[in-house]
Amino acid sequence: MIAANWKMHKSIRETEDFITSFIPMVDVTDVDILIAPPFTSLHAAARLLYKTGIKLAGQNVYYEEKGAFTGEISPAMLIDAGCSSVIIGHSERRQYFSETNEIVNKKIKIAIKNGLDVILCIGESLEERENNKTFEVLDKQLTGSLKDMQLDKITIAYEPIWAIGTGKTASPEQANEAHAYIREWLKKYNPDSGRVRILYGGSVTPENTRTLMAQRAVNGALVGGASLKPESFAKIVTESKS
Ligand code: PGA
Repeated sequence: MIAANWKMHKSIRETEDFITSFIPMVDVTDVDILIAPPFTSLHAAARLLYKTGIKLAGQNVYYEEKGAFTGEISPAMLIDAGCSSVIIGHSERRQYFSETNEIVNKKIKIAIKNGLDVILCIGESLEERENNKTFEVLDKQLTGSLKDMQLDKITIAYEPIWAIGTGKTASPEQANEAHAYIREWLKKYNPDSGRVRILYGGSVTPENTRTLMAQRAVNGALVGGASLKPESFAKIVTESKS
């Protein structure tokens, strides 16, 4: 799977321009492609992506079905806007919006209950890595976020915080090592978790996609900055298959 996280970028018009250019550039037959635009662009994106095989995702969701929660978006609203998936627990949400593993767990549960697939983001900070705490942090995030959960609707995105938007990509070996740890963790949690995909995220570019994707334990990518231009995101899709 190659997924685009646009974060707080693109107007409706820019979303439409991107998708119109992007569709003819990619072949969706042996890779799942997913785009997560901002909420305001979802509906317009859904109309253009209809029957293309390219999936649409929200970047966040709230953990209640409806009610007095000003500014929040429910799982049913995401589905109504055309989403099949949602990104939950991105490090920017954990960092700037105080999302804890407990909140992430509640969000995943309600998303799945409503029929959404989930991309759960986890990853360590630079300080944690330098203090040899990477696996400990991943264990804590997985344990808290996946509490009492089936895994069949879940994709994990390993995104080291120090690699997000910094141009400092994890080396293929670092990514593979973390992914292998996550794979083992999942196996212990549920022996049938073999089909859960583990994506790498953090400064993925067309230039480093091939070596990252060549790692055994890496099953795809979650791309921020390099997904904002159709040419660059399409190149990442093509490189991931080579
Ligand atoms: P980046 O972002 O590719 O710009 O580093 C990745 C992400 O935050 O998902």
